[in-house]
Amino acid sequence: MTAPALPAHIEPWEQQLLADPNLLGDIAFALGGPFHVLYPDRVRDVVAGFRAAFEAAGVDGAIYFGKKANKAACVARACAESGAGVDVSSIGELNSALAQGIRGPELLITGPAKSRDLLWLAARHGALITVDSPAEWDRLAELGIAAQALSRVRPPGSDSRFGMTDDELDRILAFPPGGPVRLAGFSFHLGGYDPIARAELALATLERIRLARVLGHPATVLSIGGGFGVDYVPAGPWRDFVAGVGPHWFHAGKNFESYYPYHQPGSGADMLTTILGHQDLARQLRADGVRLVVEPGRALLDRAGSTVFPVQGVKSRTAHGSPYQLLTVGGSSLSLSEQWFDSEYLPDPVLWPVRPGTPTAMAVGGSTCLETDMLSWRRIPAPRAAAVGDLLIYPNTAGYQMDSNESAFHELPIPQKVVLHDAPGGRLRWRLDTP
Ligand SMILES: Cc1ncc(COP(=O)(O)O)c(C=O)c1O
Repeated sequence: MTAPALPAHIEPWEQQLLADPNLLGDIAFALGGPFHVLYPDRVRDVVAGFRAAFEAAGVDGAIYFGKKANKAACVARACAESGAGVDVSSIGELNSALAQGIRGPELLITGPAKSRDLLWLAARHGALITVDSPAEWDRLAELGIAAQALSRVRPPGSDSRFGMTDDELDRILAFPPGGPVRLAGFSFHLGGYDPIARAELALATLERIRLARVLGHPATVLSIGGGFGVDYVPAGPWRDFVAGVGPHWFHAGKNFESYYPYHQPGSGADMLTTILGHQDLARQLRADGVRLVVEPGRALLDRAGSTVFPVQGVKSRTAHGSPYQLLTVGGSSLSLSEQWFDSEYLPDPVLWPVRPGTPTAMAVGGSTCLETDMLSWRRIPAPRAAAVGDLLIYPNTAGYQMDSNESAFHELPIPQKVVLHDAPGGRLRWRLDTP
């Protein structure tokens, strides 16, 4: 009872990495443990795709990378080099964005009830600051520094702890314009990946912008947040997975309630095109002279990085009368965050190097003492049996998977990040990601 394959979409840079007979093995030898690889040129391409969607719709747009999705310095640097800003929620994130060349006005500050120090630094750097309550507006104003603010809207009908109710938004509108804090516009962030819900809330929020202007506020910006979907696997395998999924496919009969929708047509920049096309949103933004802001985290990192684990141990097990391998890899599932949201990261890991052999199913655990430290409970079909010293490459992990939950539990070293660049002669070469 092996689950069907869920092969990930693989970009050319990664095909080249996997096909290189030495590179991955050499990096593994140099680093001696699990590691992440990032290819920042892909981030530049994704930024270009979002920008093209704005241009095609004739809309003034700005892209701020949701930094929480990945801490790598090379990602913030790629944003700086390609004209994207960065959305940060802490002083640490702010500092690392600045250190990679993001300028103050290219910062967007999000998060609830920000510390006084974060508000002060953000205002000093001329960042765009989302304000989450009238009290936070007051705390920002008390600093006496000229600042640009967006009022964050709580999605209608939601119980979100973020954003303001109609009453709270009205209280800010009633503040007389002309103080140190200027109301530059509004923002929201929705859960889920529905483009239509985003377009409709954007249209409703345009009404607020018009009202703000009538009241004398210089409102010209509307941020629709992040939540741009990522298409990890093709339609057919995803359909087969959804149709047949059950505990019989998982080591120890494990069962998960829900999964990220790993197949999403119309994701990323295509989703932005859908949003802009809904009910003439693009035309209305143009007519009102409003700049549309997006804050993609996961989608900006789509196919820009992978995580490599060395196989450290192999056991044979049997389920429903069929044998499978239970692998232990160096490192832990803290470097593949989905388990920490009580779910599983489903795109299939690739067993490297490619060698002939007998197709074999595998489940994958980490090298900590926790029973639950499993990277893949699912018995995944591999083209051959794994052996100690092989590498397992989990694809497309740059968005949230690789480093949002890492810790030095067990004093295991935190995996290093390796940056890949194209080199003369059609090669890839690598260096460590240096903050
Ligand atoms: C305010 C805000 N903006 C942007 C994002 C990024 O979301 P995503 O990675 O789904 O694009 C988040 C994620 O939680 C968020 O809270």
